[in-house]
Amino acid sequence: MEKTALKNAIENSRDATKLGEVASYIPELAKGNRDALGACIFDTSGNLILEGDYQTKFTIQSVSKVITLICALIDNGKEAVFSKVGNEPSSDPFNSLLKLEIVENHKPLNSFINAGAIVCTSLVAGDNGIEKFTRILNMIRKLANNDSIEVNYSVFRSEKLTGNTNRAIAYFLKGAGIIEKDVEDILDTYFKCCSIEVEVEDIAKIASVIANNGIAPWSNEVIIPKDVNRIIKATMSACGLYDSSGKFSVDVGIPAKSGVGGCIMGVVPNRMGIAVVGPALDKHGNSVAGIKVMEALSKALELSIF
Ligand code: DON
Repeated sequence: MEKTALKNAIENSRDATKLGEVASYIPELAKGNRDALGACIFDTSGNLILEGDYQTKFTIQSVSKVITLICALIDNGKEAVFSKVGNEPSSDPFNSLLKLEIVENHKPLNSFINAGAIVCTSLVAGDNGIEKFTRILNMIRKLANNDSIEVNYSVFRSEKLTGNTNRAIAYFLKGAGIIEKDVEDILDTYFKCCSIEVEVEDIAKIASVIANNGIAPWSNEVIIPKDVNRIIKATMSACGLYDSSGKFSVDVGIPAKSGVGGCIMGVVPNRMGIAVVGPALDKHGNSVAGIKVMEALSKALELSIF
């Protein structure tokens, strides 16, 4: 039933890839295939379903913000993290600087916009960027059950060279006392996290652990403490698709996180992890066809949590 639903969702959403554009503000991402559409379901009993262009490789981009928040919360506790970053949805684009100057204490509104993720990156355990990055990469590999996951260094160099808005955000946060230590080192770590290369199977497995209350379906190992896992699902639900999170909740109703590489990761509590990739994006930076696949799947399998 799930396999048929996923196959139909992909087939019926293929045309929507024509409605979006591949991200080009990071020049290397412009090489992405705008026609690609693939998906994976990994359920909490360990069943795997792959459909469409599931072998497409893509960089994880903002989906990494979920794993960075997991590490920041495990390493520092809830109070310390949320003294520096908020939990409120943002009605602005993901890389906006607009509210930083006016919000109380200059705290980024949430950990899934770029400003909030840069703060969380700075909070991850490690004396320097390399140690922090290793911590995040190891967590991604563990959650995906895949030790061969690596950085795409062409994308990393492209982000580093053109990431002036992120640089402005990070220097502002340093000036406001929200981040400490070396700004360029933190930015390098953030860019590297965004440039990690994956396939939908990796992301669906990460989502399945979150769906399974932090426990890996393949080993029963607790990877994410239950209280952290609860915060992750709540934040995905409120903030995962930036300034279209509310519409996504209404239309799809699955806690999710998007990235400009074209991925949407969805977590259906106690049932399954879902990952879709479709590099053609809408104006919010979310996969146009990816949203359609999620919507069709949610309707067909009654996945909305609301
Ligand atoms: O920092 C950036 O702008 C990108 N590396 C990540 C942004 C992103 O994925 C937003 N997601 N929809």
